[in-house]
Amino acid sequence: MKRSIIVSFVLVVLFILCGCSSQVQHYKIAVSQCSDDAWRRKMNEEMERELLFHPSLQLTLKQANANSALQCKQIDSLVMEDPDLLIVSPNEADEVEPAITRAYLKGIPVVIADRKVNGNYYTAFVGGDNYAVGKMVAQYILEHWDKKNCTIYEIEGLPGSTPAVWRHKGLADGLASNSHFYIEAQANGEWFEEPAYKEAKKLLLAYGKPDFIVAQNDLMGIGARRAAEEIFPDEVIHIIGVDALTGNGLGIDAICDGILEASATYASRGDLVIQTAEAILSGKPFIRDNYLGTTMIDREGAYAMRQYAEEMEHRVETIRLLQNKISELNETISLQKMVVYASISIVLLIVILFVVLWRVNVYRKRVHQERERTRRTIQEQQQRLEMMSTELARVQATASAADKFMQQLMREIEVRMADTDLNVNTLSDALHISRAQLFRKTKALTGCSPVDLIRSIRLKRGQQMLLNTDETIQQIAYAVGFTSASYFTKCYKDLFNISPCDVKRPK
Ligand code: FRU
Repeated sequence: MKRSIIVSFVLVVLFILCGCSSQVQHYKIAVSQCSDDAWRRKMNEEMERELLFHPSLQLTLKQANANSALQCKQIDSLVMEDPDLLIVSPNEADEVEPAITRAYLKGIPVVIADRKVNGNYYTAFVGGDNYAVGKMVAQYILEHWDKKNCTIYEIEGLPGSTPAVWRHKGLADGLASNSHFYIEAQANGEWFEEPAYKEAKKLLLAYGKPDFIVAQNDLMGIGARRAAEEIFPDEVIHIIGVDALTGNGLGIDAICDGILEASATYASRGDLVIQTAEAILSGKPFIRDNYLGTTMIDREGAYAMRQYAEEMEHRVETIRLLQNKISELNETISLQKMVVYASISIVLLIVILFVVLWRVNVYRKRVHQERERTRRTIQEQQQRLEMMSTELARVQATASAADKFMQQLMREIEVRMADTDLNVNTLSDALHISRAQLFRKTKALTGCSPVDLIRSIRLKRGQQMLLNTDETIQQIAYAVGFTSASYFTKCYKDLFNISPCDVKRPK
């Protein structure tokens, strides 16, 4: 019974644990972003929104302030927390790659987002096609510059980051078709406005006015514009950027305001990053290298995008409200689930309790019955013992009475042996009992009637006398109460099968 109680209890505990565990997130995803800027905030928002469709995923996010060494440390510490998957946007490929490789070789699936690594130690990649971005910018310049020669300055992002490398390659390859279009100078703007402004200023001062400045992102393009306005305020310099983000003061606004001439879109697709992560974690098929498309946005396109973005903002706001509602509903559902599990568990516990109590009761009854039976058996045995001892006493009493009777009877017969009048009447008188009683007792104790008993005792005494005395048969016959020797002889013969004459040896 104990075992069944323990088993039931364990089952209930497991049931409760299952109920509770169904509330917890199933997969931990660690995200390492290289920096915190508008582009990445957009990507993070996209990821957060997508998570609503994947409640089993839980994100832990760290951003490295554009510091590769810090990002390596952050990745290592994220890995220490044993995530189910790692998403990384590496600040610089060569510097951050070892940490990514360590995580990958530890068996953690790695999704590289946006900036790529050079090696192969990753599970999937989601990001823009930077070579295509560079080529598209080149294409734009070739199509929009009608003079023979075109001088271009390039403000690059961090030299160690793959977008910087590939955007440059794309631009150079794209311009290669026309030898009059060339990149005259390059500078490292580190992906940010301020360094780009400083570097652009240096270039303008050193090399003079270019026809185009290609900034590898819009932020650096805005910085370059500030430099151009300072150095060549009355000159026309075309500045092209990359990203084309909507939002206050970002690329699209800059195009609308004439700060930038155009920008190549560079999609972040945080939603696709999460979908890919989810597919990897749940063993579904996924595309390993997802290169996102790009398109050129000029002023006309920028106005359209800004308007579209404003409309989108309303929708996004609605989506945010819906997000909150969904989160609230999810919480309510989780709570209700817990209540249901708790109720079922309580009911189960009560049922188990009842079963246990019932079984205890049955067990008690059985023990009680068993005891009752034992008590009764003992009682019966005691009664039987008492009866037996009474019977024994009675038998003993009877035996001693019989003994006494026999003694008296024998004594009477012995004493009156010679008395020929000794018969049933005289004997019953002497013993103070009726003739019938005398007959019954004698018969019961000796198996013969009193008359036969008297005769056989007389004959046995006669035999003793025949053997041990010199008395004659006649004398002996009289001595043992016979009235004649002949009758003694006859009776003696009947009893001993021998004649007294043959016993009595002649002297
Ligand atoms: C943001 C950013 C974007 C650029 C991308 C390249 O940090 O600099 O402007 O397109 O990163 O990874």
